[in-house]
Amino acid sequence: MDLKILAIHGSPRTIRSTTRKLAGFVLDGAAEAGAETEMIDLADYHIIPCTACDACSLNGICVNNDDVPSLLVRIQEADGIILGSPVYIDNISGQMKVFFDRLADAIHYQVLAGKFGCSVSTTYESGGDDVVAYLNHVLNYLGVVSVGGISVATAGKPETVDAMEASARELGEKLGEAVKNGFPDPVQEALLADNRSYFRVIVAENRDFRPEEYERWVRMGWIE
Ligand SMILES: Cc1cc2nc3c(=O)[nH]c(=O)nc-3n(C[C@H](O)[C@H](O)[C@H](O)COP(=O)(O)O)c2cc1C
Repeated sequence: MDLKILAIHGSPRTIRSTTRKLAGFVLDGAAEAGAETEMIDLADYHIIPCTACDACSLNGICVNNDDVPSLLVRIQEADGIILGSPVYIDNISGQMKVFFDRLADAIHYQVLAGKFGCSVSTTYESGGDDVVAYLNHVLNYLGVVSVGGISVATAGKPETVDAMEASARELGEKLGEAVKNGFPDPVQEALLADNRSYFRVIVAENRDFRPEEYERWVRMGWIE
């Protein structure tokens, strides 16, 4: 089977980023599992912050003309998604958050459901595990089952991530295997089902504006 794994990282340091390097090791592991891999440096793209105008809820199209729609197409074409962010003030980077806010419609309609993912983060010292947990939470919001995550505290020594190369590659292989053979996880599956019952109300309310989405939800068995 064709297998495509995409990493998206939110460090403004792009190719100098430690988080990018860690995500790259995960991609290397996925490549060993037979995947075609791709890295997206979010900071290289034009991403306008959400203004909560709500226009996307009418037709799925943002009023802003920027790179988010083409990024979303690339994400939809992938089978596996790796999210990566440095820790900024014990949270994800602003670049990553601005991007996530633009995915609200993709979350409501669960357009990425059925995919698998994982998350990585680097930090000087604090917040790494919390950021990985949050990134995995966002994957779940998107309808994506996470196979795990890795955070590395570097204490300012970027080479610290090299010591995590084997674990990161293992995570990538696990992600590739999940795409190929599934990854049964009753806890996440129950969480995803809960999310869908919440978003079902929005999909039903907007049925007249988004009939093709409504029909997809019926076909998926998410609306009776
Ligand atoms: C704006 C900013 C905020 C940061 N906040 C924290 C923090 O709260 N805790 C911490 O331990 N490190 C913090 N750091 C350090 C970064 O998390 C760390 O250097 C990370 O590895 C950078 O990853 P990158 O090379 O992928 O950008 C911060 C760095 C910046 C620039």
